Amino acid sequence: MRIGVPRESRAGETLVAATAQTAGRLAKLGYDVVVESGAGVAASQPDEVYADAGIAVGSGEDVWASDVVIKVNAPTDEELARLRRGATVVSLMAPARSPELVERLAAAGVTALAMDAVPRISRAQSMDVLSSMANVAGYRAVVEAAHAFGRQFTGQVTAAGKIPPARVFVVGAGVAGLAAIGAAGAMGAVVRAFDVRPEVAEQVESMGAEFVTVDMATEVSADGYAKEMTAEQEQATAAMYDEEARAADIVITTALIPGRPAPRLLTEETVAGMRPGSVIVDMAAANGGNVPLTVADQEVVTEGGVHILGYTDLAGQLPAQTSQLFGTNIVNLLTLMTPEKDGVLTLDLDDVVVRGITVAHEGASMWPPPPVQVSAAPKPAATAAPPEPAPPKRKRPMWPVFAAVSVLLFVVASTAPDPLPEHFFVLTLAIVIGYYVIGHVHHALHTPLMSVTNAISGIIVVGAMLQLGVDDTAVRALAFVAVLLASINVFGGFAVTRRMLGMFRKADQ
Ligand SMILES: NC(=O)c1ccc[n+]([C@@H]2O[C@H](COP(=O)([O-])OP(=O)(O)OC[C@H]3O[C@@H](n4cnc5c(N)ncnc54)[C@H](O)[C@@H]3O)[C@@H](O)[C@H]2O)c1
Repeated sequence: MRIGVPRESRAGETLVAATAQTAGRLAKLGYDVVVESGAGVAASQPDEVYADAGIAVGSGEDVWASDVVIKVNAPTDEELARLRRGATVVSLMAPARSPELVERLAAAGVTALAMDAVPRISRAQSMDVLSSMANVAGYRAVVEAAHAFGRQFTGQVTAAGKIPPARVFVVGAGVAGLAAIGAAGAMGAVVRAFDVRPEVAEQVESMGAEFVTVDMATEVSADGYAKEMTAEQEQATAAMYDEEARAADIVITTALIPGRPAPRLLTEETVAGMRPGSVIVDMAAANGGNVPLTVADQEVVTEGGVHILGYTDLAGQLPAQTSQLFGTNIVNLLTLMTPEKDGVLTLDLDDVVVRGITVAHEGASMWPPPPVQVSAAPKPAATAAPPEPAPPKRKRPMWPVFAAVSVLLFVVASTAPDPLPEHFFVLTLAIVIGYYVIGHVHHALHTPLMSVTNAISGIIVVGAMLQLGVDDTAVRALAFVAVLLASINVFGGFAVTRRMLGMFRKADQ
């Protein structure tokens, strides 16, 4: 089958659905790939790059006559007219918001696959273009904020004085929010973040930011999506948003609720209370904005000198990167749909991912697909009664153990032949000291610590080797076993340490 990659017709579009690298991977699946001349120029993929990779570069006619057309934006009426009946088109389609497009696709008799309808299940993560784009957009939002902000992000102590780090507040810790937290932290800012889904607190903290908590009733999301807030929740968060925004230099809002207009988070009064020169990047601008003053695709500067950026094409500002990720998502989808790697697209409607993205097929609308149970978080047991609180554990007194050990020590010391009591005393001391020293090392460091201290087994090797010369078979056998086991410990310890250090080494070192 032939796959065509057309030039995007939408004004200002910078992305292309296949880079030379991803087109090469499609060819490896057995497809003939043809890219329209000039399709990748804005994404730093001129025709020569495709040609060098062995990908055919052709005219628009060649591309639109293909069996499968992959593109970024939904096909326009003119483009649909160029597709032949029975062909497959793969692109973003926003089918839930575009019922008339779904009808047109069905009427055109094409198989339409919406890349933005990939269900949120673990298996489909590698095909999720929305995550790819949100990830790039989150990073770019920080770059845009840094550009509009009149100061640097990182704090410094210089001869000319102390510079405090910028304070960044991120609202919504989904894919975009986490990417923004990572980028702002890497630039040296102090980052705080909030999300209505309490389960993301750990992810926020693992990115080096502080999770802002609000005293309100929340429930763990069962599908990874946020729900609209209740009136009490809104009241509880409003004061927090006001306080955090006024204290911040940069606010990045990413809050979205699927199928609803973006929730309004910052009021005009809050924006008015922010310091002059502060920046708000409203990443929900395309869905109405989290801030009432946002204007989509514009920079608004308020009377108080606060910059509000409502750019909706943040991912498109990094076209080479986004096209590469978008193209890889398409390769992953087509890998699923080409099980024999023979260049033949198979539409298996029993597969939830394939069914989920199939919008139209054989002249009929296939939207909406049956619901898919997503697994972003374990479903809370709604009907189960709350478990009885466990009775407090009673601490067992330690004195009987100490008493028993003391008696044992006394018996051994008074009855054992010399020099056993002395050795026994050293062993007991070593156990006590070892227990307290190792017990105070952080858990995360136990493995490297133990793997290095295993080299202490070297002492056992030396002692056991001395015993190998003794004229007693039992002692010699025991010594041999001791040498063997202690050697495994020594070499194993160093091998583990080496592997652990390898994890921190860059690939090219
Ligand atoms: N294939 C997959 O498994 C897959 C794919 C994509 C996302 N996910 C998961 O789904 C979740 C959501 O990701 P997303 O980035 O697409 O989310 P999103 O774009 O739908 O929403 C952005 C964030 O805004 C938050 N939010 C909504 N209303 C808010 C409010 N009033 N105040 C504060 N925050 C608010 C949401 O909880 C979410 O974290 C994440 O856990 C992500 O890892 C899974």
